[in-house]
Amino acid sequence: SDLNLQKIHDLLIEVAHEAGRMMLSARPSNESSGTKKNTADLVTETDRAVEAMVSTRLTSAYPTFSFIGEETYTPGLTLTAAPTFIVDPIDGTTNFVHNFPAFCISLGLVVAHVPVVGIVYNPCLDELYTAIKGSGAFLTRNSLTQKNSADKLKLPHREPEKLENLSTCLVGAEWGSDRSGSNFALKSQVFTRLAAAKADGGAMVHSIRCLGSAALNLCMVASGQQDVFWEGGCWAWDVAAGWCILLEAGGMIVGGNPGQWEVAVDGRVYLAIRGGEEEGQKKIVEEFWGVVGEG
Ligand code: IPD
Repeated sequence: SDLNLQKIHDLLIEVAHEAGRMMLSARPSNESSGTKKNTADLVTETDRAVEAMVSTRLTSAYPTFSFIGEETYTPGLTLTAAPTFIVDPIDGTTNFVHNFPAFCISLGLVVAHVPVVGIVYNPCLDELYTAIKGSGAFLTRNSLTQKNSADKLKLPHREPEKLENLSTCLVGAEWGSDRSGSNFALKSQVFTRLAAAKADGGAMVHSIRCLGSAALNLCMVASGQQDVFWEGGCWAWDVAAGWCILLEAGGMIVGGNPGQWEVAVDGRVYLAIRGGEEEGQKKIVEEFWGVVGEG
């Protein structure tokens, strides 16, 4: 295709930095934030303001592209093969409200259901994760003042030992905001079975982290700072950008339903594994579903 992905990538970084400034100058609080489907599903004025800024900038620069944003999504909207910007203005809104420094903007471009550009920016740490399909994934620390490519780290920047088995893994997993019925049962099972001693048939992983942002979780796996990330109920805007970054860093992402491993606009189960030889990755996937069930 004649898409200039580098140009899109550069614009998305500019937009991400502007979004970061908006987040850092906001003063969100429990009182000023609203809830969506339940009391654990938060949204703030800043989520909406950032999404409005992003959609204005992207749709004026690329009027023929589709745009999907978390705050303007309406049920029934589907992801087509057309070039589509997929945006979460603040991923980790709960962290944002509590001033826990793990929230970000997630900007993805997906073409024919394949993520081809991914930008994830954490304004608190000024850490920028970027990827263009086929060109590698990068982490830029101090990205606002970064002047040359020497500040860009090619991911994964740390190549840990081979992927042997789950019991040597640091695992990211999330409770998300759906905590009822079978959703809660599945999540509880994942946490319980990963934590349990091996003698009980569990995986007994090194530990489990709940960072609170699916996009940052994928970037942590891409950079080798955690080995595995699991979440049941991710939406396209949670994963589109991180997906591109993870794959470009040599990681893999799979779903609970084999054969449906593409970005989709519905809450799906996703499992991400860091880079390592393919055989080790496959072993971890098998072991993971064997221990916790496919859900
Ligand atoms: C949420 C975060 C959280 C995950 C939820 C997401 P939001 O996104 O990514 O880690 O557990 O499933 O909805 O609502 O903060 O944009």
